[in-house]
Amino acid sequence: MATQDPAQSAQHAPGMMLPGIDVTRKFEELRDYWSPKVIGRVNDQYVKIAKLLGEFVWHAHENEDELFFVVRGRLRIQLEDGSEIALEPGQLHIVPRGVRHNPLADEECWVMLVEPVATKHTGEVVTERTRSIDEQLA
Ligand code: NI
Repeated sequence: MATQDPAQSAQHAPGMMLPGIDVTRKFEELRDYWSPKVIGRVNDQYVKIAKLLGEFVWHAHENEDELFFVVRGRLRIQLEDGSEIALEPGQLHIVPRGVRHNPLADEECWVMLVEPVATKHTGEVVTERTRSIDEQLA
């Protein structure tokens, strides 16, 4: 499973040096846009990474806030009131639960997401872009 990084699964012993999760390498391994992959779990939240390009799909998550942290490129998040969040590398935004949003990347964008394990990334909207949690764990 994607969450089984050596540093988490290896037997720890005094003096042992263990690597951290190489997030850049994980991004480089991503092949498809808008296809999040789980790289870790913190309590009941998944830490995911995704490469974005172009427009996603308008959706909301009824019961879950969603964190977007831009690692590379730029991300716009359109909100239903007509406003827009513009994120640069190193910036994050948390979309509150229930707020309809539409992520847009005019150039390739690397984004880290934190969301509950049950969150569907397209909310209640099902499109050809929808990836199941199993696919995100693969
Ligand atoms: Ni969302």
